[in-house]
Amino acid sequence: MATTCCHSPFKPTTSIPRSASSSSSPKLLRRPFLVKCSVKPSEPDPVFASVRSFAPATVANLGPGFDFLGCAVDGIGDHVTVRVDPQVHPGEISIADITGPNPTKLSRNPLWNCAGIAAIEVMKMLGIRKVGLSLTLEKGLPLGSGLGSSAASAAAAAVAINEIFGGRLTEEELVLAGLKSEEKVSGYHADNVAPAIMGGFILIRSYEPLELLRLKFPAETELFFVLVSPEFEAPTKKMREALPGEIGMPHHIWNCSQAGALVAAVLSGDLAGLGKALSSDKIVEPRRAPLIPGMEAVKRAAIEAGAFGCTISGAGPTAVAVTDSESHGEAIGKRMVEAFREEGKLAASAVVRQLDRVGARLVSSIAR
Ligand code: HSE
Repeated sequence: MATTCCHSPFKPTTSIPRSASSSSSPKLLRRPFLVKCSVKPSEPDPVFASVRSFAPATVANLGPGFDFLGCAVDGIGDHVTVRVDPQVHPGEISIADITGPNPTKLSRNPLWNCAGIAAIEVMKMLGIRKVGLSLTLEKGLPLGSGLGSSAASAAAAAVAINEIFGGRLTEEELVLAGLKSEEKVSGYHADNVAPAIMGGFILIRSYEPLELLRLKFPAETELFFVLVSPEFEAPTKKMREALPGEIGMPHHIWNCSQAGALVAAVLSGDLAGLGKALSSDKIVEPRRAPLIPGMEAVKRAAIEAGAFGCTISGAGPTAVAVTDSESHGEAIGKRMVEAFREEGKLAASAVVRQLDRVGARLVSSIAR
């Protein structure tokens, strides 16, 4: 991407206007839609000495939207600081520090670290060869929690690198960089990294080529997520292995109709409809819930406590319920925590959060 310019100077045209044609009958115009430019885009210079970015937690799948629906939640996430570092070989990046819970569990080798992988991808896209960088990752999210921890690190890193060089890349390009990281650490899915970068609700319409749809949730509607995380690790790779390779037509029809209903509910701000659809997955949740002690009871407790719906957040073990106020969210969260303790024999903690409509962003910068 750094060496090839693929912007067409032409709009696709199917026929020559009569006045421009030598023949009296319209013909197909065989202009190339994509052209390769021989001119390489110049390498950008850093516009800051350092930048600090934030990327929010995300809830992937949202019930029936396995691997194609996700949203961002506010207030919790990861920070990344990127600095121009003369000690680092030009064109390379090194991880200077990792802070947060269990920092030693994460590799300091950028090739094996979510933030490092995404950072390298963005550097490749921008064609960075003249400057060396160092990166610090502040983990705000626990690992393997179902809140898009790896995606938040990748998203924050991708945005930080892009911004230190002046923000040339589009959100879609940053998602592609984050997707490389997700592919390496947990599986090829963009339903965490796309909302982590773009904010709000995102539908992944296609992976090849990547096509992302932003689902506009009404600005005036308040939606609260109750996120209850038990002390239990559910690595995404392992939770993906638990899924069926094939499904029957009845389940396909059911889940597609529920995902459609979910999208309609998001667009209209229909919280009850959103919760009902969120609770309705018949393909993924039934395979994963038994692997998370107490999950089925937690879902029942959330609904009994008045939640509009409840499911597993991403690959779990966090359970996510939706409601319309913070106080309802706190009461629902309490019941869910009790259910994890009583039925799953797991300690758990609850937080109530709202939709993050912004996504990954720069939080501070130091001029050169
Ligand atoms: N769609 C992914 C999965 C999300 O459920 O495996 C992981 O956070």
